Amino acid sequence: MFISFEGIDGCGKTTQLKLLNDYLNELGYKVIAVREPGGTPLSEKIREILLNKNNNISNIAELLLFEAARAELIHNIIKPACNEGVFVLTDRFIDSTLAYQGYGRGLDTNYINILNTIATEMLIPDITFYLQLPLSIVKQRYSIKKLDRIEQLGEVFLQKVIDGFDIIASNNTERIIIIDATQSIEKVFQNIKNKLKI
Ligand code: TYD
Repeated sequence: MFISFEGIDGCGKTTQLKLLNDYLNELGYKVIAVREPGGTPLSEKIREILLNKNNNISNIAELLLFEAARAELIHNIIKPACNEGVFVLTDRFIDSTLAYQGYGRGLDTNYINILNTIATEMLIPDITFYLQLPLSIVKQRYSIKKLDRIEQLGEVFLQKVIDGFDIIASNNTERIIIIDATQSIEKVFQNIKNKLKI
């Protein structure tokens, strides 16, 4: 099974992914956990470029770099693992590109959908957990950590990204499950387990 975790920075998806990874391991499943951008040596190099505050990257180049990192990860890690029946958990995937580069930056979402299709070789997650969090709580959580290049873009941008995630979720109800991320870590994880029915 292929599962992605999505949401705005600070929504807690990395914590939840780790919890699910450990839980599935305890149950005896084979699990691979990856993050985007990243997950292969080349994709991690692209990640460094993308998140480095000193880099001034044009919107289109940024989009293509995210897609290049994704293509590598899908081809080398995710697709082979899915073919072997391994659980694949990914921290961010196609919906992040639609939300950040599409709804956030304002790039054409039709083009992004096409690039996502190419980069993923048409492999989409069986389930996506969208950890939904309002901007007010995002801001409280931000104040305690160092911001990277994309996170420092400001409130207007982040609100557009949140609205984007909400639209994407309502357009993909067969795949995307909305989880209330304002709850405690334990409650969020309980919700995720309930939805997975594992
Ligand atoms: P990361 O450190 O993984 O953020 P977080 O831990 O908060 O999830 O950095 C990824 C950043 O890249 C994050 O701000 C979202 C952004 N991003 C995009 O803009 N487009 C994408 O397609 C992806 C995968 C991430």
